[in-house]
Amino acid sequence: MLAEKYYRPLLHFSPAFGWLNDPNGLVYKNGEYHLFYQYYPGDSVWGPMHWGHAVSHDLLNWTHLPIALAPDALGMCFSGTALVDKGDKSGLFGGKDGLLAYYTIAAEKLPDDADFPQSQGMAYSADNGRHWTKYNGNPVIRNPGLQDFRDPKVFWYEPAGHWVMVVTQGQQIGIYRSNDAINWQFSSSFGEGQGAHDERAWECPDLFEIKIEGQEESRWILIVGVQRQAYTPGSGTQYFIGQFDGERFLNDNDPATVLWLDHGRDFYATQSWADIPESDGRRLAISWMSCWPYANHLPTQSWRSAMSIPHEFTLRLTSDGLRLHHAFVRELSAKYQHSQSEEAKTAIAGSELFQCKWQDALRLKLAITLEENSCLQLTPMPGIQLFITTSAGQLDLQCVRHGKSEDETYNQHFPHDYHLSLGSNRRINLDLLLDRSSVELLIDNGRYSITNLAFPETAPMHICRALVTAGKANADVEWHQFSQFPV
Ligand code: FRU
Repeated sequence: MLAEKYYRPLLHFSPAFGWLNDPNGLVYKNGEYHLFYQYYPGDSVWGPMHWGHAVSHDLLNWTHLPIALAPDALGMCFSGTALVDKGDKSGLFGGKDGLLAYYTIAAEKLPDDADFPQSQGMAYSADNGRHWTKYNGNPVIRNPGLQDFRDPKVFWYEPAGHWVMVVTQGQQIGIYRSNDAINWQFSSSFGEGQGAHDERAWECPDLFEIKIEGQEESRWILIVGVQRQAYTPGSGTQYFIGQFDGERFLNDNDPATVLWLDHGRDFYATQSWADIPESDGRRLAISWMSCWPYANHLPTQSWRSAMSIPHEFTLRLTSDGLRLHHAFVRELSAKYQHSQSEEAKTAIAGSELFQCKWQDALRLKLAITLEENSCLQLTPMPGIQLFITTSAGQLDLQCVRHGKSEDETYNQHFPHDYHLSLGSNRRINLDLLLDRSSVELLIDNGRYSITNLAFPETAPMHICRALVTAGKANADVEWHQFSQFPV
């Protein structure tokens, strides 16, 4: 493997040192996007969980701030949420707006909770997240007797005038409500017999309302993490589309329908930003760009793991029904250093459609047309390849990743070879974002998202190359280079 500096992302958030996993408490206030995250400063493997903290004005340049929440006598600070208490409904902020955070207190053992050490705690900040006070009556929700009771997501539900919390309850999501942000009543649960499950608990729920694009109607989206058996082996994120009345979530689809938010291996614990101003109106989200089976074994030493690039979600009607679509945040285009495009390049079997050299980060947009029985082999960087094939009227994408280090767990779990069927098209558009150790791919205007880490073994200059290995292909190509941001 290379020296770890070659894997430090240019565009993606990563900790200066130590371990990072889930994004927590994403909230916008006073012109700042806050990103809290599961953090262990003492080592670059998972350990006693803190909430790390960073802020940004554009979702791309992040300023590291001191740790927001640290373990105490009650336990560690697992994943959770933050939100603006508008108009001081909680009474904690002397009439001004303040920030509330809910997190899971994860103890070895809580005195009253016997064998069930996970409960929900609250903290608040009157100075835009710079200092936090843990509520002195924590936990605000005691464990009801569940092995897995964690990752609260809280929002204000205006029609009923109460707060709502969705929280992992084993293989289900518990829904609670509160009028004062401190006392919580159980409303309902969702999940039994619904969507994808494995033998472990669902994790990191999110629930939000989103308009159907081009319509006045909206739907509610419930996101949950599946720990070990997602679309690809390991951790992945699924979502449900439905109705929510402040107390109950109803799935619009058949319970057997499984909707994956991403079809790669490194897009987990997705959370969306709270309190984005209405004038902006976007539903912005970020994910942990890793996967539990190998997360602790990635080939960096002083820091480990990064976040995905922030995504904007839209809900669009497709021939399969409503589906969430992704876009990389538009703020990225302000960071382009050099852009170039070429129209209608054509290549036949055995020849190259295009190649470009890149260093640090590259965005590549392709509109490809393939003849029947054709195959395009795209190698964005060493270690990962995409094969796009047309055959029997169907478009197929194969994603192959290699990787070998001195770590046996990495060698066993990191390489992959999987397929995604993309229907009966012969035209496909790709939006690829390449950074020093990741390949993020959006297909068909964000209908599919595929996020994968990659650790090239040669550096620092890479060649992104598209080769036609069968038939014939044509493409419009547009690429944008990034380089180090001015600080
Ligand atoms: C998901 C998760 C959460 C938990 C956190 C602990 O990746 O397992 O369920 O709160 O990580 O770090």
